Amino acid sequence: MLTQETINIIKSTVPVLEEHGKTITTVFYKNMFAENPELLNVFNHANQKQGRQQTALANTVYAAAANIDNLEAIIPAVIQIAHKHRSLGITADQYPIVGYHLLGAIKEVLGDAATPEILEAWEKAYGAIADAFIGVEKDMYDEAEKQTGGWRMFKAFKVIDKVKESDVITSFYLKPVDGQKLPAYLPGQYITIRLRIPGQEYMLNRQYSLSQASNEEVFRISVKREDEVQPNGVVSTYLHHDLQVGDQLEVSAPAGDFYLDAANTTPVTLISGGVGITPMMSMYESITKETPNRKVAFIHSARTRAHQAFHKNIEDISKKLTSTSVDVLYSEEGDGFITREFLHRKVLAGSDIYVCGPVPFMQLVINELYDLGHPVDKVHFEFFGPKAELELATV
Ligand SMILES: Cc1cc2nc3c(=O)[nH]c(=O)nc-3n(C[C@H](O)[C@H](O)[C@H](O)COP(=O)(O)OP(=O)(O)OC[C@H]3O[C@@H](n4cnc5c(N)ncnc54)[C@H](O)[C@@H]3O)c2cc1C
Ligand code: HEM
Repeated sequence: MLTQETINIIKSTVPVLEEHGKTITTVFYKNMFAENPELLNVFNHANQKQGRQQTALANTVYAAAANIDNLEAIIPAVIQIAHKHRSLGITADQYPIVGYHLLGAIKEVLGDAATPEILEAWEKAYGAIADAFIGVEKDMYDEAEKQTGGWRMFKAFKVIDKVKESDVITSFYLKPVDGQKLPAYLPGQYITIRLRIPGQEYMLNRQYSLSQASNEEVFRISVKREDEVQPNGVVSTYLHHDLQVGDQLEVSAPAGDFYLDAANTTPVTLISGGVGITPMMSMYESITKETPNRKVAFIHSARTRAHQAFHKNIEDISKKLTSTSVDVLYSEEGDGFITREFLHRKVLAGSDIYVCGPVPFMQLVINELYDLGHPVDKVHFEFFGPKAELELATV
């Protein structure tokens, strides 16, 4: 339990730390990686270079600190992050390392303003926040392991097929090397793949949404190659150009809180941009298995026809549904982008709405949905990177 005095110090110093938030976390990462280079096997280096992860961690620590006397309030945010941590194999013994370097960075950046009382209070607060994460993550690891076909950290998978879905997206079919059946997953969830790439010093981890309905035999991920701009995306470029059928990589058990409640019967609207189509494919196919009478609207935006994946797949799934509409807009072939008027016409009344795509796409679509009066708790979204990057005017 934190004393009232500690709570008061934390609350009164949150604004100062917020002001220096990004500087503190930047110093924190620099020092932590210098002393614990093995952690470079876990963190996404591209996110680091672009500062995305720094912002995400800083925002969360300060949001948690502002609620230090009521940590229950941050549990929904903890759950989303804990899914990511669990999928990356983050362990309880890594929390003190992060805490040590975070405290050190606060001291380094604030200098004399960081009095011993302030540092002591923050040490205790970090401990309380870390305990909240560790508790949630322990339950998630236990859950992942005890599921039929489940496992705790990473396990070896083999690529059994590689299928080109469009000019830019290729699917990889992955099967456990140990021959076990796969655990059931929820439509919309993702896995982390971990691999060594020749020429790269550290292991690389990336999340990929599972792009078909849960089945016991095989995971399918569908990856967009990021090799049109410099620097090329390291993992996606390697997967497209080098990873072959028969090759192995490590995979963590499915995770994520962006999923369709497949047993529900409310209408559902799936809205995706570009490779954001992947979780929608899993949701769309799952509906055929669980609730084929459910009303569905499938809305997708792609740059051109050559960029659109799963054309035939979508057609086949649609035939199995009682009531569905499919709309694909090709932004570079004269259809333009999704507009408010389009959403007004196409989004099903009272539906649960799932959105996934590039940041500007998500920002536009979600803000329009809110403006059209769709309640916040009906609009679910997944971001293919650290979540904190998204800025929504109305939340
Ligand atoms: C929950 C979740 C689900 C996802 N699902 C999918 C999916 O189904 N399909 C899919 O394709 N992707 C998905 N992603 C994204 C995926 O995890 C990877 O981020 C993506 O494949 C890019 O990885 P990469 O290694 O190729 O690129 P990275 O090397 O990570 O680079 C990413 C981008 O950053 C740029 N970059 C790199 N270094 C720098 C630098 N120094 N300065 C400026 N820019 C730089 C690169 O040009 C590139 O565009 C998902 C992500 C999440 C979090
Ligand atoms: C209380 C302490 C912590 C907080 C508040 C925190 C917060 C966060 C947040 C907000 C994210 C981004 C989630 C997203 O992708 O949407 C994240 C991701 C991540 N965290 Fe933590 N974290 C903590 C502890 C740790 C520890 C102990 C480790 C392991 C050393 C760790 C490793 C990671 C990694 C590797 C990612 C993914 C980063 C990426 O791929 O770019 N975190 N964390």
